[in-house]
Amino acid sequence: MKTPESTRNTTADVVKRLSRNGTFLGGPLKSFELAGNCQLGILLHFGLTPESKVLDVGCGCLRGGRKIIPELNEACYFGIEPNKSMLKDGIEISLDPDVVLDKKPRFDTNAEWNFGVFNTKFDFVIARSIWSHASKRDITKMLEEFSKWKKPGAKFITSYHRAAIPIFGDYHGNVWVGKSHVSDKSGAVRHSLLRIQMLCEERGLTVREVSSNKYDFGTQKWLVIEQQNGRKYFSYGNIARVLFFLLTIYIWIL
Ligand SMILES: C[S@@+](CC[C@H](N)C(=O)[O-])C[C@H]1O[C@@H](n2cnc3c(N)ncnc32)[C@H](O)[C@@H]1O
Repeated sequence: MKTPESTRNTTADVVKRLSRNGTFLGGPLKSFELAGNCQLGILLHFGLTPESKVLDVGCGCLRGGRKIIPELNEACYFGIEPNKSMLKDGIEISLDPDVVLDKKPRFDTNAEWNFGVFNTKFDFVIARSIWSHASKRDITKMLEEFSKWKKPGAKFITSYHRAAIPIFGDYHGNVWVGKSHVSDKSGAVRHSLLRIQMLCEERGLTVREVSSNKYDFGTQKWLVIEQQNGRKYFSYGNIARVLFFLLTIYIWIL
C-alpha cells in the first residue's frame, strides 16, 4: 500500500524538486523520464529479471535507478556515486520511501571505480553517460573491475560518443570531462570503437554496439561488453597494427 508521500513521486514532481535543489539531473531535463525508461528497457532487453544483481556505476540522482530498483528483488540494486549531495537528493527525492524500505538498494560514494565495495558479484553493470566523460584510464579500471566482479554470463552495458573517424577524435586525456563530485563544468569526450575493442580484447572481453536504436536517446550509442567465449579468428589489436603499418608505408611513399 503506497503512502501519501510516495504518491507525490511523479516524474514532474521529482524533476521540480531536484531542480529546486540545484541537483544535476544527469542530462537534459527534457529527457529525464526517457533516460530512465531506456536504461530499464535495455536491461530488460538483455535479460534482466527480478533476481538479477545490478550495479549502476555513476548512478547520479537515480535517473535510471528510480526505474530499475522497483523491478528488482530486495537487495539486488547497487549504486556508486561520488557526488554525495547528488546521491542524497536522488535517494530522498527520486525514490519512493516505500521502494527504499522494500528493495533496500545499497550505495557507495567511492570515486576509484571500485566495484568490490559491496562484496557482491553482478549479473549486470550499467554505466549510462559515464564513458562519454571518462578517460581511457578510467575505462580500463572499469573493465578490470567488471572482470573481477561479474557473475558467469554477466553483461556490462555502457554508453559512449563514438569518434567520428576511428583513431582521430579519440580522447587521449587522463581526466574526467564534465560534471562530477569535483567539477561543475559541462563537457564530454569521444572514444574510438577500435580502441575500446582493443582494451576489451586485452582483458578477454568482447564489445559490440547495440544494433537496435529502440533504447537510444541523445547522441550516445549503447555498448554491451561480455566475457569472450570460444576461439578468436582475428584480433582488433592485429588489425590496428596492420592499419598503422599501411599508413606508415603510405606516408613514406608520399
Ligand atoms: C552524466 S552523469 C550520469 C548519471 C547517471 N548515470 C544517469 O544516467 O543519470 C555522470 C555521473 O558520473 C559521476 N561520476 C563522476 N566521476 C565518477 C567516478 N569516479 N566514479 C563514479 N561515478 C562518477 C558523476 O558524479 C555523475 O553523477
